[in-house]
Amino acid sequence: MAEDVYILAIESSCDETAAAVVKNGREVLSNVISSQIDLHTLFGGVVPEIASRKHIERINQVIGQALSDAEMTLDEITAIGVTYGPGLVGALLVGVAEAKAIAYAKKLPLIGVHHIEGHVSANFIENKELEPPFLCLIVSGGHTHLVIMKDYGEFEILGRTRDDAAGEAFDKVARAIGLGYPGGPKIDRAAKEGNPHAMEFPRAKIEGCPYDFSFSGLKSAVLNFLNHEKMAGREVNRNDLAASFQNAVVEALVSRAILAAKEYGLKDVAIAGGVASNSALRAAMEEACRKEGFRFYRPSPVLCTDNAAMIGAAAYYEYKKGARSGWDLNAVPNLKLGER
Ligand code: KG4
Ligand code: ZN
Repeated sequence: MAEDVYILAIESSCDETAAAVVKNGREVLSNVISSQIDLHTLFGGVVPEIASRKHIERINQVIGQALSDAEMTLDEITAIGVTYGPGLVGALLVGVAEAKAIAYAKKLPLIGVHHIEGHVSANFIENKELEPPFLCLIVSGGHTHLVIMKDYGEFEILGRTRDDAAGEAFDKVARAIGLGYPGGPKIDRAAKEGNPHAMEFPRAKIEGCPYDFSFSGLKSAVLNFLNHEKMAGREVNRNDLAASFQNAVVEALVSRAILAAKEYGLKDVAIAGGVASNSALRAAMEEACRKEGFRFYRPSPVLCTDNAAMIGAAAYYEYKKGARSGWDLNAVPNLKLGER
């Protein structure tokens, strides 16, 4: 029997300070998330300098909590996994410096993890049978990628956004209609009370690139509509607008994911990233996959948005492959998927 592997994982790429203990890549022993959302809401978005300072204030306590929730000490940990990119450089540096300090002091292997590989790996936690290859739609605040996870940590990128990420579009439209930050969950909630067919917004298609996305035209269409109605002195139904916008995003995402799964002959389809917690997207993907006879995988909402358990899952597979980071591990704010 192989020895059990316990990863202490750290995530600090944006506005959540998070730590988790994960056993053998798929069993979460603890998952502590300290969100700064309330603080950033005051400013209508994430303020990088504030994020870094808060990470510094909270990280030791969050790690201590993760260890105590798992009923473990550092002496029982096999390796340290940490997000080193992409993300806010100052925020990432806090986690990276902390991970290096612990690994050095306890003579443990250090494993730098790609944040997006973490998001995809969140699917392994609740689906013990899921293994590569599978198709994954990655939709977060900074990324919209359609990929094949060919093997653990190995990606073929089929398509990506040409402009705004899906989460970014949610956040910008929410701000425009006065729902505030963070926009995704607020639009999700408002849309439940609205009619998704009340307004017809454009669906962008990119000539010759069937798997690429574009959301800036949709965002402009919503803004133009709002302006137009305001000039005409008409009241806009916010719930209808939220539902119609969300419907356009969901349609663009689902249609491309299904097209790709068919084209590449993949029967397993997963979603990942903060926007993967969107209730309309989950329902539409589930329905489309059922119709096509695909197996559909999605992490629980708490594992879709930023957390360290997903980093622990990804770190485990990197560990098994023999990946080790040196003491020169640095934060890489624009790290590309598939790069190390
Ligand atoms: O993955 P994530 O937590 O952080 C990044 O890596 O970017 O994603 C955050 C994004 C934000 O844009 C947020 O508005 C969006 O995910 N989001 C949602 C929902 N929950 C979070 N978008 C739509 N519906 C939701 N329920
Ligand atoms: Zn994320």
